[in-house]
Amino acid sequence: MIPHQVIEEIKYRNDLEEVIAGHVTLKRAGSNLVGCCPFHSEKTPSFTVFTQTKSYYCFGCGAGGDVITFVMRTENLDYVEALRYLAKRAGIEIPEEGREEPTGVRRERILDMNREAARFFHECLKNSPEAQAYLSRRGLSTALIKHFGVGYAPNEFEALAKHLRAKGYSQEEMRVGFLCSVSKKNGKSYDIFRNRIMFPVIDVKGDILAFGGRTIGDDPNESKYINSSDTPVFNKRRNLFALNFARNHSAEQMILCEGYMDVIALHGAGFANAVASCGTALTSDQARLMKRYTQSVIISYDADEAGQRAADKAFGLLGEAGLEARLLKVENAKDPDEYIKKFGKEGFARLLNRSRSRFDFKFSGFLSQYDLSKPDEVVKAAGEAADMLATIWSEVERDVYARQVAAKLEIPLESLKADIRRKIDKRERAEKKEKNREVIRTTAGFGDRVNPDRLRHRGEAGAEEAIIGILAMYPELIPEAANGSLHLSAEDFVTEFNRRVYETMLNCGSDFDVGLLGEQFTQEEISRVVKNTVSRQGLTENGMAVIRQCTEKLRAGRAKETLSLEELIASKRKKK
Ligand code: UTP
Ligand code: MN
Repeated sequence: MIPHQVIEEIKYRNDLEEVIAGHVTLKRAGSNLVGCCPFHSEKTPSFTVFTQTKSYYCFGCGAGGDVITFVMRTENLDYVEALRYLAKRAGIEIPEEGREEPTGVRRERILDMNREAARFFHECLKNSPEAQAYLSRRGLSTALIKHFGVGYAPNEFEALAKHLRAKGYSQEEMRVGFLCSVSKKNGKSYDIFRNRIMFPVIDVKGDILAFGGRTIGDDPNESKYINSSDTPVFNKRRNLFALNFARNHSAEQMILCEGYMDVIALHGAGFANAVASCGTALTSDQARLMKRYTQSVIISYDADEAGQRAADKAFGLLGEAGLEARLLKVENAKDPDEYIKKFGKEGFARLLNRSRSRFDFKFSGFLSQYDLSKPDEVVKAAGEAADMLATIWSEVERDVYARQVAAKLEIPLESLKADIRRKIDKRERAEKKEKNREVIRTTAGFGDRVNPDRLRHRGEAGAEEAIIGILAMYPELIPEAANGSLHLSAEDFVTEFNRRVYETMLNCGSDFDVGLLGEQFTQEEISRVVKNTVSRQGLTENGMAVIRQCTEKLRAGRAKETLSLEELIASKRKKK
């Protein structure tokens, strides 16, 4: 446990505005700052930084917290790591001490173990002529193998496990780190990766998070790739293969591929800005991750239909993340890797230059389906074009394409634009309605994951939230509420979640800070606590008086509950 004073110091020395400004463009709005939320996609800013309380809250997606939770989310760190990160940023020393994961396995242990495993695989490659032959067949030079730390997992059941055991790693650590598993049949441990070329997934800090392993065997029952599943150090939805290299070469653009081999081939040919997702389709988290390092992404997926469908989805996600996206079409080869083998880096450079926007592709594709000499076909084509144009995020881009379409179809630009506007309005109305429904659902307590008791105790929960919100803002009132004449105790709280928050407040007393919740509360739970303070920012009344009223309300509710129970019993007795 890191002492409270150190946490306080860390928060004090890392200015929230400054840290957030590294990710979000903030504009002043009264005494607060606003910007577009980094945690969900939006066009109008609803992400608010409260300078007074040093907290942030997004009115769009409900994410909220302080500088620590902000770093946890944006840098993908756990609580203690975020504290270490911020401590380092501000030059603060914190006492070294590892933290136990819920699984009982420490993150640092897994990272160390992964590094040891990568070293082992790399050595095994040197000793395997077969694996070397495979890689040279695939055109991987020694330099490239070294650059990516490529290795080979031997075709034995316990090669890695033996090595790691000798280095002092436990079975449990290997299991949690997704390197070994235990057979259900005979209870024996076995290596998950066997007879595979191993690609380490390395993050921007240089830590080895996970592995992808491609088989070199010819057993058709073996899957071609095995990828690490999520572990305490790896979330496959939030990482990209080769981003550790690509981020330094992405000022202009990034190339997004489907496979490990494509990325490696591209880097080998001098395109060091290539990345890939690791065994999943692109996610919105990954799109936002890319946005941190580049403005523009060229999708370079496989030529087959599956690849093109995936590209279509990627277009959507990249656009929402605010990235300009273009698609490159690999022709006369199945993927970028093969293309480079056949046509060289000059060939691939030409493909890059010919990459086109989503609209260009679709437009040329769908125009060929209509006979534009017939007026009704023109009307249909214009309708479809308007549908497509309405999905384009940027107004400028929309305008450029609208002109092209109008010219091609020989229709007035203004009427096409009016059509597009109508479609956009309709969609926005639908979205707004959905958002309202969502608000009603959450305020009514339906689907409230953070505080499921809220549904049954709406009034009490409201009173509790007022108390928590005020105390979080004015922690100096905590001892007064607990020990003064009010004697507010955890038992006064009706809903379990709020009771837990108040218990933490009692433990911390006037030292309480939202930043201290990270140890025991999830991001979503912390967001809720911040939300409670946000709605009370403008409070001018005496906070203690409000707490008193709310406490009375809670106690009155309790009294009524007991009374009605007694009444019930009494009435039953009468019946007898
Ligand atoms: P590909 O089959 O295109 O892989 O799958 P590749 O990297 O080009 O490999 P080669 O050229 O055939 O050797 C694209 C990506 O999909 C994931 C992997 O991440 C792979 O890199 N994948 C593929 C799996 O996770 N499992 C599989 O069985 C196959
Ligand atoms: Mn391939």
